[in-house]
Amino acid sequence: MSDCIPYESDQDLFNPNRNLSPITTEVDGLGRLLIGGCLLSDLAARYGTPLYLLDEVTLRASCFAYKKALEKYYPGPSMPLYASKANSSLVISKLITSEGFGLDAVSEGEMLTALRGGVSGDRIVLHGNNKSDQELIFAYENGVTIVIDNQHDIHRLRSIIPREGTPARLMLRFTPGIECHTHEYIRTGHLDSKFGFDLEHLEKILTELKNSSWARLSGLHAHIGSQIFELQPHKDLASVMAEALKLAREIGHPVEDLNVGGGLGIRYVESDDPPSIENWVKTIANAVYEACNTRNLDLPRLICEPGRSLVGTAGTTLYKIGSRKSIPNIRTYVSVDGGMSDNPRPITYQSLYTACLADKPFGPKEEIVTIAGKHCESGDVLLKDISLPVSKSGDILVVFSTGAYNNSMSSNYNRIPSPAGVILKDGESDLVQRREQPEELLRYDILPARFIKVI
Ligand code: LLP
Repeated sequence: MSDCIPYESDQDLFNPNRNLSPITTEVDGLGRLLIGGCLLSDLAARYGTPLYLLDEVTLRASCFAYKKALEKYYPGPSMPLYASKANSSLVISKLITSEGFGLDAVSEGEMLTALRGGVSGDRIVLHGNNKSDQELIFAYENGVTIVIDNQHDIHRLRSIIPREGTPARLMLRFTPGIECHTHEYIRTGHLDSKFGFDLEHLEKILTELKNSSWARLSGLHAHIGSQIFELQPHKDLASVMAEALKLAREIGHPVEDLNVGGGLGIRYVESDDPPSIENWVKTIANAVYEACNTRNLDLPRLICEPGRSLVGTAGTTLYKIGSRKSIPNIRTYVSVDGGMSDNPRPITYQSLYTACLADKPFGPKEEIVTIAGKHCESGDVLLKDISLPVSKSGDILVVFSTGAYNNSMSSNYNRIPSPAGVILKDGESDLVQRREQPEELLRYDILPARFIKVI
């Protein structure tokens, strides 16, 4: 892999979240598609399919856009975190650290991946509405900041932190009561959410924590949802958070961090129109600045936690086309060698994607087909009624914007092994995830002795 050199640009900021494909996407003289300087059909032949691709330049450019915008628009200190639930791996942990990002984790697995990938504990934040004791202990022992989400967290931590030990570094998550327009499964800021303390209980909790010697409250957190295109809810959030900051400081907590969560959307299909990373940061930075100013509050360190808008556009998935079924006057199904196990988003959220053929990206769109996955589930459809050139078995299908919530939400449904993954840069590809083998799917199966004798 190329060295871990942070991205630098003198040009205007790229805002990859507004692109339909990675920023290094190009077409060669024969009309075939390349990403990161690598020919996609070659990658499919070399590594097999389905194959997750990660374009290093796009990911770094997204990190750069966040960092530069924070520097440009926020006069106080800031720290961007990567929400690793979007795609957790050693290579991404390494890469985002080299770009100066910290990381948000929601399990021991995500914390471990981050630590092994070189993210230091004091730049990791642990979320979760039902953290286990094991996760809390792991976080505490590794110096991870713990976001307390409910009373259960407080009770467990009180019994876990040694009496004479260093106080746990905490953030407090509350539900800001803000509605935004996104899929109901990925909305979190409204009152009916499983995450965070109710605003009305804030004063009581803050007072309780003030009298807890094991706790050091360093920040406040709220997150309103994901794949959001509106800016107004983020503006509204700033004043709710500044009010909470004022209260926390009045109660005597030396709160220096204001964590506004993530949520910026990306362009999956042409009609999507997300704000740019720069605009999103600008809106939030200005709103936080103003909200603090009018309340005479010293500026907190501004923390944000983007996931999708960092890795989404950097990811692409390659599939091999196999069977075809035409139902006259109804639909033509073209099946690929992956589906809901490597990308559960269409079946879960009815998410839309953009696709093309690797060697004919701009070929005449001669037919309308539905791309079906190979799983035993009628709803396993990746793209419904899309226009493509006529394809044949063996052609490579390219699905864009699969970098977020695909690999991390993948499953082994139908005992389908996980795909391989490669990172691309300057015409080189490096394996970052080995393809799982069918044999490995049996690694946790145990046949109790009494069954072995049964014929
Ligand atoms: N911070 C917190 C506390 C979160 O819960 C999330 C996402 C993020 C940050 C990052 O949000 P982002 O920038 O990626 O929008 N599986 C769904 C998305 C679930 C998002 C969960 N939380 C999907 O595939 O659309």
